Formats: sequence, structure tokens, C-alpha cells
Amino acid sequence: MKPALLALAFTRKRRGASPPVRNVALPGGLRRSASPEALAMLGNFRYAGREMNTSESKTVLITGVSSGIGHGLARWYLEQGWRVLGTSRRRPDDLASDASFRFVNCDLRQPESLPAAIKELTGGQQHIDLVVLNAGVLGEFGDLCDAEIDDLQNTMLVNVWANKAVLDWLFAGGMAVEQVVAISSGAAVNGNRGWSGYAISKAALNMFVKLYAKEQPATHFCALAPGLVDTEIQERLRALPLDERFESVAAIAAKHNTPDMPTPEAAAPKLAAAMERLSSLVESGEFVDVRKMPGV
Ligand SMILES: NC(=O)c1ccc[n+]([C@@H]2O[C@H](COP(=O)([O-])OP(=O)(O)OC[C@H]3O[C@@H](n4cnc5c(N)ncnc54)[C@H](OP(=O)(O)O)[C@@H]3O)[C@@H](O)[C@H]2O)c1
Repeated sequence: MKPALLALAFTRKRRGASPPVRNVALPGGLRRSASPEALAMLGNFRYAGREMNTSESKTVLITGVSSGIGHGLARWYLEQGWRVLGTSRRRPDDLASDASFRFVNCDLRQPESLPAAIKELTGGQQHIDLVVLNAGVLGEFGDLCDAEIDDLQNTMLVNVWANKAVLDWLFAGGMAVEQVVAISSGAAVNGNRGWSGYAISKAALNMFVKLYAKEQPATHFCALAPGLVDTEIQERLRALPLDERFESVAAIAAKHNTPDMPTPEAAAPKLAAAMERLSSLVESGEFVDVRKMPGV
């Protein structure tokens, strides 16, 4: 098992209902505390933890449901019988006919409009099982020294601060939120040249999640890098002119039409399964890359 996986397996949130931890010896002579779930993973890479409630009663709120990962997740959860509360600027007409789907249009660049939009979206709801802070923009790709401050601010607004408006409204209104997953990116930690405001916004998102985890101990928070998924963001990256300064772009483009870059529909069930395991695998507030999760 790779060290990163071991780290993931042995980091676990501390909650009242947590099973006892045990000291175990790790490869290389390390000794760390491990939960029963982590021990089960070491043995057979299968999660042996708690099951979540039955799907009938479940509600997920997803930002950015009009395309890509958010659209794929919304469709997947609807197929599983969840109630889906979705928002984006464009309306996903194909989902709208589903009685379990509620949609409210909103522009995350206008945080002052978000309380009313989220109020409408969550009307009558007192409990949300999962909030997926998914909506995001790439912003201008290129060297940071060439970036326009306006564009950097816009990227931060959508990718980070809009999430604050959403969470603050939910928590201030007393909504019981079981889990929050913010869709982060490998760009949050990779530091590859050209990722500019996007990388900074995702690094900030990781810290945002860590801080909210401390403020809201009854909710499990995680920043999750979803891996490469063939979405509009990937189309934009592929459309960039070849530039030898930005090696990672060509490397990512080479994964198009390979299993390393699934469609949103193919990625959604795996991401949903990964999200279901997060609260038993890692401490609230952690960043996890789905590609480093065992069994995904
Ligand atoms: N695809 C990948 O390989 C990859 C890898 C790592 C991380 N991610 C992350 O995954 C998340 C989803 O991206 P994606 O790849 O699925 O791209 P996408 O297809 O472009 O989806 C982005 C979603 O965000 C919404 N959005 C963007 N700006 C908005 C605004 N101002 N107001 C409201 N909604 C807005 C879009 O809806 P409207 O345009 O209709 O508003 C759309 O539904 C992002 O956070 C992205 O950073 C993606």
C-alpha cells in the first residue's frame, strides 16, 4: 500500500460515535492509531464501515448542476431515489422533469443574491444529508504574472466565496447538514505552471473546508479532488494553443478518451461512492484526492 493511501486510511474524523482506535504497526516500522474501518481496508481494501441511511429519505444539494460533474452527480442521485436540490445559471432541462429534482437558477458571482436563492431551493427542508459545493470556473489559464486581477477575483468568487454564502445561509438558519464535500482539484496542491487563479482558488478552498470543519463540528467536511473528468473545463483546456511552458495541459489532453478521463456519467457513481466513505475515512476538514482512495 502506498504511503499516501496509508495516510488516508489512518486519518479519521473524531466524532462522538467513533469506534475505538487501535495501535497497529505499519510497513516501515511506523506505528499509528487506526480505526476498525482502516484496519479492514488494510486487509482487503474494502470499506467495512457504517452504512448510510436508506436512500428514500436522502437529500443532496449540488451547486453547478447544468453540466459536467454536478450534472452527472445530480442524475446519479436522482436515479438512486434521492431528492436533489440543484442550482446553476443554466437550467438542466433533462433533469427538470424528475419530481425529485428542485432547481433554482442563481449566479454565484452575485453572492448577495444567494441567500434568497438558497432559501427557495431548500424551502421546507430541515435536514440535508449531503451538500456538494461543485460549481467552479477555470478562469484565465496562463502565467500568474499575466493574470488580470478582475479574472482572479472572479475565480475566487465562484470557486470559494460563493460557497461561504451558501454554507452561511444553511447554518445560520439551523439546517442540519450531515456532510459537505467541496469539489477541489489536484491543482490545489500540484503547483503546475499556468494554473494561476484556479490553483490558488482550489488551495484556498481546501483551507476554507478545514476552517468550516472546526466551526461546524456536527457536519463532516471534505475537499475532494475528483480526478480528471471529461467536462467543459477539460474542453477549454484542450482548446488552448500548445505551449511548452504548460506541460501539464498536454499531459492531461493525452488522457482524453481514455479510462483516466471518464465522462461525468461514468465518474458520478464512483464519486458518490467515494463521498459516502469520506466521513469514515478521514478527519473532517481534510483534502482527499479520489485517485488515491483505495478501491476507487
Ligand atoms: N473536470 C475535471 O477534470 C475537474 C478536475 C478537477 C476539479 N474539477 C472541478 O469540478 C467542478 C465541476 O467542474 P466541471 O469539470 O464539471 O466543469 P463544468 O462542466 O464547466 O461545470 C461547471 C458547473 O459550475 C457552474 N457554474 C460556473 N459558474 C457559475 C456561476 N457563476 N454561477 C452558478 N454556477 C456556475 C456551471 O453552471 P452554469 O454555467 O450553468 O452556471 C456548471 O454547472 C469544478 O469545481 C471544477 O473545478 C473538475
